[in-house]
Amino acid sequence: MSKVFSPLTLRGMTLRNRIVMSPMLMYRGQEDGLLNEHLYVHYGARALGGAAMIVTEVLAVEPRGRISAKDLGLWNDDQAEGLKRLVQFVHSCGTKICAQLAHAGRKSHLTETAIGPSARAYDNDLGTPSEATSADIEGVKENYRAAALRALAAGFDALEIHAANGYLLHEFMAPVSNARTDQYGGSLENRIRLALEVVETVRAVWPDDRPLLYRICATDFEDNGVTEDEAHMLAKELAKRGVDLIDVQTGNILPGYAGPVFPGYQTGYAERIRKATNLPTATTGSIASIDLAEDIVSNGRSDLIFLGRTLLRDPFWPIRAAKEAGAELELPIPTYARATGPFERGF
Ligand SMILES: Cc1cc2nc3c(=O)[nH]c(=O)nc-3n(C[C@H](O)[C@H](O)[C@H](O)COP(=O)(O)O)c2cc1C
Repeated sequence: MSKVFSPLTLRGMTLRNRIVMSPMLMYRGQEDGLLNEHLYVHYGARALGGAAMIVTEVLAVEPRGRISAKDLGLWNDDQAEGLKRLVQFVHSCGTKICAQLAHAGRKSHLTETAIGPSARAYDNDLGTPSEATSADIEGVKENYRAAALRALAAGFDALEIHAANGYLLHEFMAPVSNARTDQYGGSLENRIRLALEVVETVRAVWPDDRPLLYRICATDFEDNGVTEDEAHMLAKELAKRGVDLIDVQTGNILPGYAGPVFPGYQTGYAERIRKATNLPTATTGSIASIDLAEDIVSNGRSDLIFLGRTLLRDPFWPIRAAKEAGAELELPIPTYARATGPFERGF
């Protein structure tokens, strides 16, 4: 019995299996943050391929929160309207869809407008961001709230708050990027204040029957970066505030990735967060075989397998993996079954 091809329910949402498309920025949107045909087909292909859920690439909650000028956005209603069409198509494949709400902070390549917790540069290319004022911080929370409401209007099943990979909420948490002396800097309680306020703001407008995911940094492998103990403390606070699943990442608060890389390289961190919080977790990191995915889910190391580059290489990986695992997978286009059986005459 395959565990990867067993369902998982989070609040009112049931996923048909444990394979999820990990959020991946394609740098292919339009300068106004609108979805276009390339991205529509890109995501549509992964829905047809049998993934249980798609997590969109970063959807910027405000223009200066974009990583690049080609990011998608959710800061206006036209953007939500464009995404609605994608949501409807993905649903027609039996697939769920989650919006990743994000703010790039000091890692925005739109350097003129970038803000960070402090005037500390990520690297020489991006230069020094402006230190976020109290008004900026209030604005960030309001923009997350408004984006969550637009995601609801567009019909998304779930939301993910992006707080890893060196972006704004992660920057606030890590002392290496946060030198503030107000209530958002210094102690851990202060450094995670903005993240918790964003979660509370979003949870207050996101319906009770829809799950809220949080992409966490479990460790930075750097002096003055996030430590594993701190990540566990944050995860416990997130659980109290209605987060339903922790999607576990590591590193990237500074340029380069300082940790080891091997198939499933972040799964140990997800497993320990799962034990510490009793919350379900998702894991990513060079997972490309059904055997490894099966080992992770069956041994309770993580509940969901987020596939990034594996699904970039092959949108139909879930259909092939189900075949390999001898599991049933309802095909979004039933005629695809003609291509998964033994060799016969094709006509
Ligand atoms: C091209 C590319 C774009 C990415 N963009 C995002 C993103 O928009 N948001 C995010 O949280 N992570 C992003 N990531 C990280 C992936 O979601 C994933 O965590 C990482 O690639 C590790 O998983 P993998 O080894 O299966 O690719 C991106 C990764 C890649 C390769």
